[in-house]
Amino acid sequence: MPKRPYVIDELISAKTIAARIEELSRDITAEFHGTDKLVVVGLLRGSFVFIADLVRELDLPIEVDFIEASSYGDSTESSREVRILKDLRSAIEGMDVLVVEDIVDTGFTLSHVIKLLKSRKPARLRTIALLDKPSRREAPVQADWIGFEIPDEFVVGYGIDFAQRNRNLPFIGKVRFTP
Ligand code: IMP
Repeated sequence: MPKRPYVIDELISAKTIAARIEELSRDITAEFHGTDKLVVVGLLRGSFVFIADLVRELDLPIEVDFIEASSYGDSTESSREVRILKDLRSAIEGMDVLVVEDIVDTGFTLSHVIKLLKSRKPARLRTIALLDKPSRREAPVQADWIGFEIPDEFVVGYGIDFAQRNRNLPFIGKVRFTP
C-alpha cells in the first residue's frame, strides 16, 4: 500500500489505448501471418490487462504464457538486478515468440528477458511494450512495437501499479504526490 498521499491525473484515456491496440494488432497480425506456432508471453504482473486486450485483437492461432521478473517492490526506483520469479510453462525452442511488456523504463527487465528467451532458441522473437520512457533508458534495448512514448513520469493504471494499487484503472494516469 502506498505510504504517501497522492492523486492520479489521466495521461492516456481508455479510448485512446483501445484505438492504439487495434493499430498495433494489425501490424502484429501481418508480421506473424501464416504461423501456427506463436506464443504470446506476458511479463507479469504489469502486462496482464494489455495482453488480455491485445490477444483478443490478434487474428492468429496463438498460445499464451507468462513469465514474471522481479520489479520495483514497493518503491518507485528500478533495480539493475533482474530475477525470474516465475518461468514459462512452455518450451519455446523453434517457436515464434511475442513478449508483451507494460513499460520499458531503464530497460533492464526487457533486456534480461530477451537474453534469457533467446538462449532457448525460438525461431523468431519480437517484443511489444505499451509504454516507453526513452529518457530513462540505461540498458540498450528497444521494443519492436511501442504503444505510446511517455515522459519521465511515474504512471499507473491499465495493469500498472503503484505499490500494488491502481492496476484496475481503465486508463493510464500519472501519480502526483500531494502535501
Ligand atoms: P525497467 O527494468 O526499468 O525497464 O522497468 C520495467 C518495469 O518497471 C516495468 O515492467 C514496470 O513493472 C516497472 N515500472 C517502470 N516504470 C513504471 C511506472 O512509471 N509505474 C509503475 N511501474 C513502472
